[in-house]
Amino acid sequence: MTEARRAVTAPAPPGARPGPPGRPGFGLGLRSPHLPYVRAHRPPVGFFEVISENFMYAQGARRRALDEIADAYPVVLHGVSLSIGSTDPLDHDYLGRLKRLADDVGAPWVSDHVCWTGVLGLNTHDLLPLPFTEESLAHVVRRVRTVQDVLERPLVLENPSSYVGFRASTLTEWEFLARMADEADCGLLLDVNNVHVSAFNHDFDPVEYLRALPHERVVQMHLAGHTHYGSHIVDTHDAPVAEPVWELYRLAVELTGGGVPTLLERDDKLPAFPELLAELDTARAVAGGG
Ligand SMILES: [Fe+2]
Repeated sequence: MTEARRAVTAPAPPGARPGPPGRPGFGLGLRSPHLPYVRAHRPPVGFFEVISENFMYAQGARRRALDEIADAYPVVLHGVSLSIGSTDPLDHDYLGRLKRLADDVGAPWVSDHVCWTGVLGLNTHDLLPLPFTEESLAHVVRRVRTVQDVLERPLVLENPSSYVGFRASTLTEWEFLARMADEADCGLLLDVNNVHVSAFNHDFDPVEYLRALPHERVVQMHLAGHTHYGSHIVDTHDAPVAEPVWELYRLAVELTGGGVPTLLERDDKLPAFPELLAELDTARAVAGGG
């Protein structure tokens, strides 16, 4: 069992909010329009994932709302600006704020993406693909180790969706992820929809991808909807999970042995909260063999 997998049931780090007990199970991304519903109804959600950058600088009512959620539910943090692959130095002000937030909400792990978001201090707010080379692997591994030392909890990195790649790559994406997780001793966030999206866009076999991953390193999974444009698929998070992604999820659950916390992401065309709860029930049924 990896550090990150152990963290699901381990006590929170010193000084951290203990958080509610139990395994997270099936969760939802917490989005602002749903906050009043969640606070009023306390829906049966195993855990919430919040976008770190939305709360790292937040004060007042926004922050109090998060504290209230963290008192009632396990909360994990999901970032979009760590830029683990950039050649810029790591931003230690960002990391310090991230650690404080993770301590405050009792996050057992912190996730972000295998990507870079900019260089020379510029944040493009895009998750840009990395060249999958020995050089970039060594660079990312070094930085993951530093980040985990600062955060004092596992960093869990997600496979992003991608639309272009580097001719210079000498490793497949799944080889890169497996080596990164092993050499940096970090966790993986397996976004099953992103595997489907990138497999179509780059014409690789998503089943081969899933089978090749180090399954014991998978700490969390993501499910989301996408938009198919015929020639390519875009990871839009604005629709229900598509049938081929449910099929891949079924395989991912089987390969990881079940019990990996699964999170449903929805960022656009947000439906009423009960609709997301119903889709979470579908995830439970698929994971349970239904
Ligand atoms: Fe994701």
